[in-house]
Amino acid sequence: MNVIKSRFLRACHRMPVDVTPVWFMRQAGRYMAEYRAIREKFTLLEMVERPEIAAEVTLQPVEAHGVDAAILFADILLPVVPMGFNLKFVKGEGPRIDNPFRTEEDLKRIQKINAVTDLGHVMEAIKILREELSDEVALIGFSGAPFTVASYIIEGGPSKEYHHVKSLMYAYPEVWGEFISLVADTLTDYLVSQIDAGAQAVQVFDSWVGVLCPSDYQQYVLPYSRKMIQAAKAKDVPVIHFGTNTTTLLPLMKEAGSDVIGLDWRIPLDEGWKLLGEDVAVQGNLDPIALFSPRDVLEEKVKDVLDRADGRPGHIFNLGHGISQHTNPDQVKTVVEMVHDWTVK
Ligand code: CP3
Repeated sequence: MNVIKSRFLRACHRMPVDVTPVWFMRQAGRYMAEYRAIREKFTLLEMVERPEIAAEVTLQPVEAHGVDAAILFADILLPVVPMGFNLKFVKGEGPRIDNPFRTEEDLKRIQKINAVTDLGHVMEAIKILREELSDEVALIGFSGAPFTVASYIIEGGPSKEYHHVKSLMYAYPEVWGEFISLVADTLTDYLVSQIDAGAQAVQVFDSWVGVLCPSDYQQYVLPYSRKMIQAAKAKDVPVIHFGTNTTTLLPLMKEAGSDVIGLDWRIPLDEGWKLLGEDVAVQGNLDPIALFSPRDVLEEKVKDVLDRADGRPGHIFNLGHGISQHTNPDQVKTVVEMVHDWTVK
């Protein structure tokens, strides 16, 4: 058997590591001058459509901060475009879809996608990255989870109350079931294609799932997330399952069967891990806004996360959600150094 050289991949499997691995959600982005220099010339979608550029941007935080994993530069909403939804990223507002899914009628216009051909540029970026990355730095592919992507398509953008989504779920459960099932199949195809192209681990982002209570999660979401995660696991790569505001959902998320569960900062890491049980790895969970603190406070907060992980195999250090665009990159590098220096076994 091959020895796994990446400490990130080892931690996903709860194997012993030399030091705790660390990477950051949304580690490539506007807080880095190197990113902004490229972003000035292209839109986000144009960047993603150019595999060399997507690969270059993916590598920027690896080179600048020494993180232990690279996450492919793409977006969870890319697959909605070949499905037939008009996606735009509006400055200062975020993603917008001007032909959202609202009724049973809309089922008819959803296109079935083929990720390898419709999103071939993403697969191409993965191939370039695998050539360029060493065995020590793993490449993470990712996709949105069925609920979060379905929510975007139904709401047409970010939402506070998820009024349209929940109304559809409660009033027309069969339509919801058919829709989320189509979304889940599309996302599964996208995720599995990334693994086939060379992604060494995958993360499923269910960023907005915390708006649901446990019984709704169990009834309307879990079966689809589980099916998707199982399809990725069948490809023999570790799967990370992440959501925010998930304290009451963690035991159900565990039933979806990922190798690693991502925790946000609202729950102390040891309490989250206890709810999940020790037979799963955990990723997290520094508050992204802690990166705006003075050195002594930042030290305390990083130490707190590490103390709660207590050196147990299966901890991957990360933030509790994505990096803010106003973060000072030096602070990011400092956290990488703290985690590596303080966890030498
Ligand atoms: O982590 C990485 O470095 C890889 C790249 C990545 C992006 N989006 C690039 C991006 C990843 C992993 C994502 C995931 C993503 N996209 C999520 C899940 C994670 C999370 O934060 O909850 C979500 C919900 C989206 C949808 C999305 N895309 C939003 C809400 C926005 C607007 C946010 C903003 O800050 O404006 C995007 C745009 C986006 N995706 C940017 C980046 C770098 C900013 C684009 C820009 O340069 O203008």
